[in-house]
Amino acid sequence: MAYNLLQGKKGIIFGALDEKSIAWKVAQRAREEGAEFVLTNAPLAMRMGEIKKLAEECQAQIIPADATSVEDLTNLFTQSQEILGGKIDFVLHSIGMSPNIRKGKSYGDLNYEWFQKTLDVSALSFHKVMHVAEKLDAMNEWGSILALSYIAAQRVFPDYTDMAQAKAMLESIARSYGQRFAKLKKVRVNTISQSPTKTTAGTGVGGFDAFYDYADKMSPLGNASAEDCANYCLTLFSDLTRMVTMQNLLHDGGFSSVGISEEIVAQMSK
Ligand code: NAI
Repeated sequence: MAYNLLQGKKGIIFGALDEKSIAWKVAQRAREEGAEFVLTNAPLAMRMGEIKKLAEECQAQIIPADATSVEDLTNLFTQSQEILGGKIDFVLHSIGMSPNIRKGKSYGDLNYEWFQKTLDVSALSFHKVMHVAEKLDAMNEWGSILALSYIAAQRVFPDYTDMAQAKAMLESIARSYGQRFAKLKKVRVNTISQSPTKTTAGTGVGGFDAFYDYADKMSPLGNASAEDCANYCLTLFSDLTRMVTMQNLLHDGGFSSVGISEEIVAQMSK
């Protein structure tokens, strides 16, 4: 159901790789709610071509940008304002990648160059996005900037390795830049900490199926889906949440407040 929550709003959505991507669902729902936006992803991801389908469906233009490159981001924000005919109201940072996870490195055996890459792509890029938006004065007042996080920022999930540090940094950047952007332009900055979700980035983590099922059994509402996450993102882009900022918002079906569930007890008692 559409509520016209984003009528007249202009945005930039990072990270729609394929139909499973959380950003893909956000784009579809944002369009239904009346938003206009530019889609962007790393040039390498573009070559896979999937995003063109989404762009057609959403009547959106695509601008490639490596989110670790200030130059690419400057081009992205400049062009987006031209295409959309004004400043930006919302930004979704839906980006994560760890070469160490891709290569199956354990936490005690990380490659440090790759670790830096993990931090650059998955966390520092969020700072760079906001730095460029600030320098170009590209955000409208009462705009909303959002990134996606995971509870491994606070609790240990061994197979999440260096992404745990990336998410902790991402959430910290949201707080620090959130204070700055609120003072400068009344722009709010938050992270949503999402349940495990069956996407390319998600399923790349070792043991994913097991901790997906575990989280599902621990969460009284079950795991939040990518569609649910998209709906939550939209509320944060809408004018209904103008005073929410510098928060890490748990979107996890209750997982983070549970010590143990009957389902897990039953499973352990078998
Ligand atoms: P996904 O694999 O569909 O999306 C990750 C995106 O990051 C891809 O579109 C990829 O092209 C993009 N990306 C990688 N390097 C980039 C770069 N240098 N510049 C620009 N874009 C780049 O997976 P998903 O799950 O939709 O991930 C979106 C966000 O949600 C990530 O931040 C992820 O950590 C977070 N998240 C995912 C969960 C899951 O279980 N899937 C759980 C909690 C958070």
